[in-house]
Amino acid sequence: MVDMKTTYAGLSIENPVVIASCGFTGNIESIKKIIAYRPGALVLKSLFEEQIIAESSQGINLNDYGYPESLDYIKEYTRMNNLNKYLELIREAKKLSTIPIIASINCVTSNEWISFVKKIQDAGADAIELNISLLSSNPHVTSEEIESTYFKIVNKIAETAVIPVTLKMSNSSSSLAHLLTRLDRYNNVKGFVLFNRHYCPDIDIHNEKVVQASVFSSSSDYAETLRWVAILSGKLKNNIAATSGIHNGETAVKFLLAGAQVVQISSVLYKNNLSVIQTIKDEIESWMKSKGYKTIDEFRGKLSMDQVEHPEVFERIQFMKYFASVE
Ligand SMILES: Cc1cc2nc3c(=O)[nH]c(=O)nc-3n(C[C@H](O)[C@H](O)[C@H](O)COP(=O)(O)O)c2cc1C
Repeated sequence: MVDMKTTYAGLSIENPVVIASCGFTGNIESIKKIIAYRPGALVLKSLFEEQIIAESSQGINLNDYGYPESLDYIKEYTRMNNLNKYLELIREAKKLSTIPIIASINCVTSNEWISFVKKIQDAGADAIELNISLLSSNPHVTSEEIESTYFKIVNKIAETAVIPVTLKMSNSSSSLAHLLTRLDRYNNVKGFVLFNRHYCPDIDIHNEKVVQASVFSSSSDYAETLRWVAILSGKLKNNIAATSGIHNGETAVKFLLAGAQVVQISSVLYKNNLSVIQTIKDEIESWMKSKGYKTIDEFRGKLSMDQVEHPEVFERIQFMKYFASVE
């Protein structure tokens, strides 16, 4: 008998397959369908900092706005995504089952939106995932300034949050291992989600226009994240959730072997159908049976950087032998 129970960020969960924040987790109808397949936990669609601020600026004098279009935009945004709806979504999702519901906020500052954290908590969310993705595109902003933003936000939230806070990271920090081990030491972050898949621009050469690149990952998009999970899992005392390109049980097992506590999936739900949640759980289970493992702890981290005979394979990015052998 295989037991897939585990913990993540202090939450007890039935299995390590977590549904990542995405369109499916933004409405109660699809949440119901997801829950029928019993994932370990579910991260709600993100609420954006701008949405929270827009909501709290309701009642502002219309004449204060130099640009009526921007007010219309804010009002529209607010109508579509208002805070009460989000709180209601948390309450409704909590009523459906005992599966942990993780709220998600996409933020870039530690401004007044943080006061909303208490409402999320009171609505019953089991944890809060912060998606802080900062692109280092401004030549005048130093890496120290960017990194201090993470600390400002996390420390400010820790003043209010009694539920676990997790942090969804971008992989574009200039000194990722240093940043994460420092954040980990302060213990205000109970889980690190590696990595956020960014909105990316692409170029349509026929119409010579900037367009949006595909939002969906493919099943081969996991390798860089796997490297970082293996490097960091032995260095952090708090948990890692792996996300990016996890489309089947085999890839999920790779991340558990590299030391992830859980995997988060979203693109595969769009490319298949929601029953893939069950398929991935079954594939993990049947691999465990084939290897004689009864619990996930028996093999988790077995192939992390600090456990393998040649840890340097995870750090090597210029591998002469590898490139030389490709003709
Ligand atoms: C349609 C769609 C919507 C998403 N919306 C969010 C979001 O609101 N907040 C967030 O943190 N991540 C969002 N993501 C990113 C996913 O949570 C996930 O981290 C990323 O897609 C990588 O996992 P995957 O390869 O399984 O898709 C979204 C992804 C997709 C495909």
